[in-house]
Amino acid sequence: MAKIIIGITSSIAIYKTLDLVSRLRKDGHPVFCLLTRHAQKMISQQTFNAVSGTNTDSSMFNRKTPGLFPHLDIAKEADLFAVIPATANIIGKLACGLADDMLTTTALAVSCQKILAPAMNSAMWHNYIVRANISRLKEFGYTIIEPDDGMLACGDHGQGRLKDISIIYEIIISFCRSRLVKSKNSIYPAIAGKRVLITAGGSIEMIDPVRFIGNSSSGKMGRELALEASAAGCIVHYYYGNISSEIPPAEHSEHFTTAEDLFNRLVKIIDSIDILIMAAAVADFKPAVCEESKIKKSERFNLPLISTIDVLKSLKKRSGQIFAGFAAETGSFKNNALKKCREKNCDLIIMNPVGGAAGIGSDYNEVTVFEPDGRESASGVKPKNEIAKFIMEKINEKAKQIF
Ligand SMILES: Cc1cc2nc3c(=O)[nH]c(=O)nc-3n(C[C@H](O)[C@H](O)[C@H](O)COP(=O)(O)O)c2cc1C
Repeated sequence: MAKIIIGITSSIAIYKTLDLVSRLRKDGHPVFCLLTRHAQKMISQQTFNAVSGTNTDSSMFNRKTPGLFPHLDIAKEADLFAVIPATANIIGKLACGLADDMLTTTALAVSCQKILAPAMNSAMWHNYIVRANISRLKEFGYTIIEPDDGMLACGDHGQGRLKDISIIYEIIISFCRSRLVKSKNSIYPAIAGKRVLITAGGSIEMIDPVRFIGNSSSGKMGRELALEASAAGCIVHYYYGNISSEIPPAEHSEHFTTAEDLFNRLVKIIDSIDILIMAAAVADFKPAVCEESKIKKSERFNLPLISTIDVLKSLKKRSGQIFAGFAAETGSFKNNALKKCREKNCDLIIMNPVGGAAGIGSDYNEVTVFEPDGRESASGVKPKNEIAKFIMEKINEKAKQIF
């Protein structure tokens, strides 16, 4: 079972965390509730301790429980650190690395995955300082469970509601599973514990300050692959472009815009990655120039296009890595697939059909996986979560030869 530290701060959504703690306890996870001083003015430590079944002490000094270095003792043991709900205040403190109480000091001492589920008034959530702090925390590797849009406790409407506690529970469980799956128990033993980077969604290439070339990719295929990889015990990095699906739980997630932006982000991390799955729909063309001002309406105008960077082909692959690329094709694709496999240094090329009910933007997909030696296997039309299993099995087979 995973040892989970839940930081609890003084948001009006605090009462919802009691339900979360209770569910995690029922699953058998030891949960340590660290409350801020202000949170304890809303709900007592004793209530959280009773619900979690652990006797946690949130004070650093004058403690009622033994322990010489309480923040370190608890941090060393933790499999997951989450702050739910997270106030604007804790977000600011964590982004600055402050350590002025038990919760913030523990946050600096843990080496496990860190999650925040913010909740606050929408004006606070959109405040540019809070936006900047959230960006910093993402860069530091925090997973942010974005708040929902809707009616807020103060009566305002907007983004700021704590994400539904059942979704937060699912995310936490998924993290715990990926941390606890040992190779021998994993559904895909050859890739358990490996670092997997999955790209998802569509890139955008700006035409002028308001218009762009994009595509209808939803990010659903990448999301399902990320969920499957987490369930297999992989450490998942998720790089997403334009998406209309939820960001899955991941060790680290980053947003990209253009093909070049994606490439620049991947170059920084690729050496530490064992498996790269390029499920993103990256544009092949971009406007030769991005106009500085909005192009005036006219009967007709020409838009010269040039090629974008070929992301997969341009990445340097080190030995002991697996690269899997997606390709969307309309015609007969075997020859194209094999050409792409070789040119892009891929171990697998996953072909999607274009058009029809399955594929880009749909909940269904149908793929054919090609290997450089000409072997191929077809999935048939299936929901994307089953297609993700099909692809992971192929990657696991490849991993047996490579790792
Ligand atoms: C009734 C009430 C509800 C509050 N709800 C929130 C909230 O949802 N989000 C938030 O960021 N701050 C909220 N605050 C403000 C914080 O409690 C305040 O900024 C506090 O200093 C945060 O301290 P902490 O982060 O150490 O718990 C609320 C305050 C009150 C009195």
